[in-house]
Amino acid sequence: MKRLGINIDHVATIRNARGSSHPDPLTLAKHAMKFGASSITIHLREDRRHIRDYDVVKICKNKKIPVNLEISLNNDILKIALKNKPNFICLVPENRKEITTEGGLNLTKNKKKIKKIISTFNKKNIRTSLFIDPNLNDIKLSKELSAKCVELHTGKLSDLVKEKKNYFFELEKIKKCTKLANSLDLEVHAGHGIDYKTAKILNKIKYIKEFNIGHFIIGESILYGFKNIIKKFIKIFNN
Ligand code: PXP
Repeated sequence: MKRLGINIDHVATIRNARGSSHPDPLTLAKHAMKFGASSITIHLREDRRHIRDYDVVKICKNKKIPVNLEISLNNDILKIALKNKPNFICLVPENRKEITTEGGLNLTKNKKKIKKIISTFNKKNIRTSLFIDPNLNDIKLSKELSAKCVELHTGKLSDLVKEKKNYFFELEKIKKCTKLANSLDLEVHAGHGIDYKTAKILNKIKYIKEFNIGHFIIGESILYGFKNIIKKFIKIFNN
């Protein structure tokens, strides 16, 4: 079965809207694990718009929760990541003005820095993944940089599916990338904009081993309940 990672950033968004402690991301993370998620993703952004430093400390301390910490290449954030020892790291680009992570990392531009960061995490046995746009060159570069995994940005595919546009070429691109990554012994993950429809489409690609889903799950949970939504995704990924 493919793994389901749940991004709980937006629980912190709701909490922060009131400046209080409710709802608590750690509590939701525990529920997610109880209902069958494989891991929890949190993104400590430089602007701290959702997950805060104390969330990282609390969630990483709970050794029953496999934590995938998304971070940018910022040195201060890197120090926090190293101190809190999450199970997994996903390196993502960050831009202050963006609403969400809008594209993949620029591996060519940041080659040296990313290589150094990955080497540091590899030495600590922390699995690293690189959030990249689906293109073959970045898959080859990810291998060169010694990443263990790549997470393919599925935002474009998701948009095309939602807008009922032709997504054939984008899907082909993703398929080719997963094939190449697998041949290079890079584990493939997928994330961004995934809902039931895109999950079903992407689930057919055998080399995708993990899905990281946030916004849709949190939004849909308000309507139909967190447990139901997780079960529904697990059913899709069990097929
Ligand atoms: N994967 C990565 C690397 C992300 O940055 C995000 C968004 O924070 C997601 C997955 C989840 O995307 P969404 O919230 O659209 O499901």
